Amino acid sequence: MAAKLKTRNSKRKTPARNVPPRWRKEVERVLITEHQIARRIRGLAREIERDFHGRETVVVSLLNGTVMFLADLIRHLSLPLRLDFMGVSSYGAGTESGELVFTKELRLDMRGRDVLLVDDILDTGKTMSRVVPKLRALKPRRIKICVLLDKPVRRVENVKADYIGFEIPDYFVVGYGLDFAERYRNLPFVGVLHPHVYKQACQRVSESFCHKSCR
Ligand code: IMP
Ligand code: MG
Repeated sequence: MAAKLKTRNSKRKTPARNVPPRWRKEVERVLITEHQIARRIRGLAREIERDFHGRETVVVSLLNGTVMFLADLIRHLSLPLRLDFMGVSSYGAGTESGELVFTKELRLDMRGRDVLLVDDILDTGKTMSRVVPKLRALKPRRIKICVLLDKPVRRVENVKADYIGFEIPDYFVVGYGLDFAERYRNLPFVGVLHPHVYKQACQRVSESFCHKSCR
């Protein structure tokens, strides 16, 4: 089950406004703090350990958005595991998923193994609905999906994750590996991007990148 975020309707002064001054023009607010992320990852790791105990485990991580999440997750997994990466890129510069391009293929043998497929965020589900069949063709024993964030209201494909860090509303978020136009991945928290940032960027690139629903 995904962790509940206490950033809305909370009486406590939320960490939401605590954006470091350097980022205030671009990041509207902190949605999930470093501390909340760290605590949730320890919980996820415990769930995964229970389910993968005694199995031949391969962690398959989708590049590039998973870099921080993956590094923190696997250091908390006391399991023998192998690690492989799949490069997946959404061809576009807006906030909508564009055409999917595979930029790096897997190298390890998946046959008969238990795969933990890790991604940063499950949004429309289009990425997972392309990746899972590709992985299934390599004949693993089973595939379980782990995502840091889940935005269920945006889903158009029938995909569910087995392990979810946080369920979030329909905000475009950056940080902790997540990017907008390849920026902001190094923020240590997950923050809501100011709409003016992507609106400006969308005006600069052709409409075919941004689609009509650029928010
Ligand atoms: P989906 O194919 O629509 O499920 O989207 C998956 C991919 O879109 C993720 O792996 C991210 O790279 C990207 N994405 C979706 N929502 C966001 C967001 O709010 N911030 C940054 N990237 C996002
Ligand atoms: Mg991604």
